Amino acid sequence: MTGQTLTPSSCGALRIEQLVKQYRPGQPVLKSISFAVQGTGLTSIIGPSGTGKSTLIRCINRLVDPTSGKIMLQADGQAVDMAQLKGADLRRARRRIGMVFQEYNLVERLTVMENVLTGRLGYLSAWRAWRRKFDEADIQQAFELLQVVGLATFASQRADALSGGQRQRVGIARALMQQPALLLADEPTSSLDPKTSVEIIQLLHEQGVRRGIPVMVNIHDVELARRYSSRIIGMTGGHVVFDGAPGELTDEHLNTIYGGRAWLN
Ligand SMILES: Nc1ncnc2c1ncn2[C@@H]1O[C@H](COP(=O)(O)OP(=O)(O)OP(=O)(O)O)[C@@H](O)[C@H]1O
Ligand SMILES: [Mg+2]
Repeated sequence: MTGQTLTPSSCGALRIEQLVKQYRPGQPVLKSISFAVQGTGLTSIIGPSGTGKSTLIRCINRLVDPTSGKIMLQADGQAVDMAQLKGADLRRARRRIGMVFQEYNLVERLTVMENVLTGRLGYLSAWRAWRRKFDEADIQQAFELLQVVGLATFASQRADALSGGQRQRVGIARALMQQPALLLADEPTSSLDPKTSVEIIQLLHEQGVRRGIPVMVNIHDVELARRYSSRIIGMTGGHVVFDGAPGELTDEHLNTIYGGRAWLN
């Protein structure tokens, strides 16, 4: 771990109020979701397939437009309602939300360094972004982040030459390059082996705590979620049915979340 510089303004918080999303009229996928998260550790969202976990994450960063409700993001001492923002205001707020994807979403033909630097594109003028003209400070920060994620010696390698675990580390460095006030990850370990999955979840946890920003992760591996989260949110049928510490999550809760018991042993 390097002594990477962090601005106090990185700290963030998120409060969701009565969030509803329906893709088709009259068929809500998220049915009035409310919770708040601070930058105090990893929050894992668990729940069966199709219950709306990705929809929730995507509403927060506005890859999907919510139908109603509030998504209050606190950054730089100001709170904005992500659900209401448009145009330049939305772009400005979105650059403070780092996103880590299941399939990494790297530009394969670019180097590791170039991929990390793309996390900064939202901060450049259109002209600079088009020319990919990054400041020295950005390049310095990207190097520091590559050290943080353990890939300093891979800076000039092309992304398509990396393993899945290494790609996800690049994905995390790119998200951190945004100086996020909030970090979201949609099944970041689903394509990785168990040991690499643990390392990736630990890295997300560590960075969230270090920066004082909320980290929310959609995850199917309940044991992994239990081991590394400070909080678990269990969803089923578009509702939050559990919200608490990992130690409070009982088999009964898992039964409520996933239904049936056969898989519990
Ligand atoms: N763009 C879309 N248009 C219409 N319906 C959608 C769209 N995206 C998701 N849905 C529907 O919304 C519901 C929730 O999907 P979502 O992907 O959020 O679930 P999930 O909990 O992330 O599932 P998984 O664990 O399999 O990733 C599903 O019924 C899905 O078919
Ligand atoms: Mg999903």
